[in-house]
Amino acid sequence: MGNLSIEDICRLAPVVPVLVIEDPDTAVPLAEALVAGGLRALEITLRTPAALGAIKAISNAVPDAVVGVGTLRSAGDVDDAVKAGARFAVSPGLSHAILNAAQAAALPMLPGVATPSEAMAAAERGFDLLKFFPAEANGGVSVLKAWASPLSGLEFCPTGGVTAENAIDYLSLPNVICVGGSWVAPHSAIQGRDWDRITELSREAWGLAGPRVAKAG
Ligand code: 3PG
Repeated sequence: MGNLSIEDICRLAPVVPVLVIEDPDTAVPLAEALVAGGLRALEITLRTPAALGAIKAISNAVPDAVVGVGTLRSAGDVDDAVKAGARFAVSPGLSHAILNAAQAAALPMLPGVATPSEAMAAAERGFDLLKFFPAEANGGVSVLKAWASPLSGLEFCPTGGVTAENAIDYLSLPNVICVGGSWVAPHSAIQGRDWDRITELSREAWGLAGPRVAKAG
């Protein structure tokens, strides 16, 4: 698979797993378990020392995974992530330094926004697909509904507090392209190496595509 745009990546599946990898040995089996269930775009957060190694290991060993870097907090992390094999990036907020670095590296990027002002600033830079973060704490579905008309043309990947139960409410919105969430890879399941459980959660999350397509059609 060649270079994908951020929209291509967000359309691979209804859910982008947000992954915190502590033990490097869990990276590849975790990615394989998620891909087996249908979720292919994987966000590896830069919250642990194992993160960059995990991006590299999954990129090399799991060809069906599209690996991204998450929790990007500094422009300096962009090059390291690209060198490790990251094919997209996600940031919790809007940083022009990070946007500059991502654009210079031609790295597809999902900037985080929590207000219309931030969404407009991102759009001015050419980013019209944005992470709404933290989604539930910022008003969730009702805020995205309120943004749909005044911020028409912008699409969102709500993340933060999205669950198996409420994901469909987000995915039914016309301005939501996918959601992000950690629920498909619970810490306890990773620690316990319960890969079957993670594949089951991934498959359930993939199944959210059905109602979304039906609703959109
Ligand atoms: C995060 O940055 O932690 C993500 O938004 C995931 O949030 P969640 O754990 O509520 O899914």
